[in-house]
Amino acid sequence: MKPSLRNHLAVALGSLIGLVAIAQGVSSYQLCRAGMSALLDLRLEQVAQRMRNGLADSIPATPARGSQPVRDIVISVRKSGADIPLRSTEPSLALPGDAAEGFSSGRVGGEQWRIYTLRDQGTLIQIAQRSSVRNELERNTALKTLWPTLVLLPLVLGAVLLIVHVSLRKMNQIGNAVQAIDASHLESLPVVGVPVELLPFVDSINRMISRLRQSIEAERKFIADAAHELRTPLTALRLQADNLQPHIVPGNQERFNELRAGIARSGALITQLLRLARADAPRAAGSVEPVDASGVVVDAVAGVLPLAAARGIDIGADTLISAQIAAPLVDVAAAVKNLVGNAVRYTPDGGTIDLNMRVQNNAVWIEVTDTGPGIPAALLPRVFDRFFRANADIEGTGLGLSIVKAVTQKYGGDAVLRNREDGQSGIVAAVYFPLADQRPDQAVRYGEPSTDRT
Ligand SMILES: Nc1ncnc2c1ncn2[C@@H]1O[C@H](COP(=O)(O)OP(=O)(O)OP(=O)(O)O)[C@@H](O)[C@H]1O
Ligand SMILES: [Mg+2]
Repeated sequence: MKPSLRNHLAVALGSLIGLVAIAQGVSSYQLCRAGMSALLDLRLEQVAQRMRNGLADSIPATPARGSQPVRDIVISVRKSGADIPLRSTEPSLALPGDAAEGFSSGRVGGEQWRIYTLRDQGTLIQIAQRSSVRNELERNTALKTLWPTLVLLPLVLGAVLLIVHVSLRKMNQIGNAVQAIDASHLESLPVVGVPVELLPFVDSINRMISRLRQSIEAERKFIADAAHELRTPLTALRLQADNLQPHIVPGNQERFNELRAGIARSGALITQLLRLARADAPRAAGSVEPVDASGVVVDAVAGVLPLAAARGIDIGADTLISAQIAAPLVDVAAAVKNLVGNAVRYTPDGGTIDLNMRVQNNAVWIEVTDTGPGIPAALLPRVFDRFFRANADIEGTGLGLSIVKAVTQKYGGDAVLRNREDGQSGIVAAVYFPLADQRPDQAVRYGEPSTDRT
């Protein structure tokens, strides 16, 4: 089991409180018994004093046999040296005449007795009480003193657990916030309300986040600058190639075409690198103008329609719903165009591409389903990695889905890719963005699905 500060504190404090409660219970039990015993002794002594002051005459000379209740004390008054008492509440009980002055204990008539003996001018006064009666009285009284401890113990333990829980809640909150930190989410941890003991910890994490943010930003800027700088010489190269075109002899035409294709590939890579750097840039401060999601879908389909038609691909939007997205148009459009572009690129001629929209959990989902070859399950988790390509036969830079991931996550959405599960081969590529107006009554699909394919 992993060490837990909360468990450690709860067990340590719980054990400590338990030990204190046991010590307190044992001591109050013992003290109460001792006090009760002293009280009972005092009573024996007081009765003996009263007998000396002449009250012995009030005891009948021959009380009825067995009239003495078991719980009562026994009084015996006799002349010193005589075996038969003058007065006795229990004549059948022969208390020891040679008992020491004061308190003593002894067995009489098969039972243990506590006896107080007083000798006064030739008279022997003895007051006795059964030890079993005394023990029971002492025990019952002492047990009553344990009740407050027994009632309070679970309450105190519960309060301790609650205090430990509440005290560590802030720590849990910080732990959750630290867990949520990744390259796409580099927010500083809030310091308001953080206990002073945890402030150095939170401060150093915030410093680390700020350093991380700076280095990621520096890397992003470097990529953007490098791509930008490469664009100018590449444009010059392309112009020179164009100028050379009329002078290429037919035997070199094929190699010349390869050279131009290479220049075009490099141009595409530079363009994608610039888009990625833009997608990775932190989101601008301030609110964004909501975007109509269905407009983005229609534009994306329209953009690839000529190419799709040329290849006999049937592309259309089955469901168009009116929903506003809380992200800039350029980013939402980039994400959707990338998915549609992939679908057209990887779907064989004569295939079908369907676009669907839905509103779910305060987010607008846009889904692109194709009839392409799909992606081997083992490679699926890597498709969002930069420069990763699952299909080497078709040209691409391997950056498109990284751009999609970056823009969706920047605005609180995400991108997911899975193979079709309806028995057909193909990919279901989806992006979602938060709804612009997240009122609970809008967290359901609104707008009627269109039956016309766009
Ligand atoms: N709809 C799809 N069908 C089959 N494979 C796909 C599909 N979409 C993406 N892939 C696979 O995922 C890989 C990564 O896609 P991504 O869009 O990131 O890069 P790309 O298409 O190769 O290049 P780029 O989009 O930068 O021009 C692709 O190389 C391809 O193998
Ligand atoms: Mg792509």
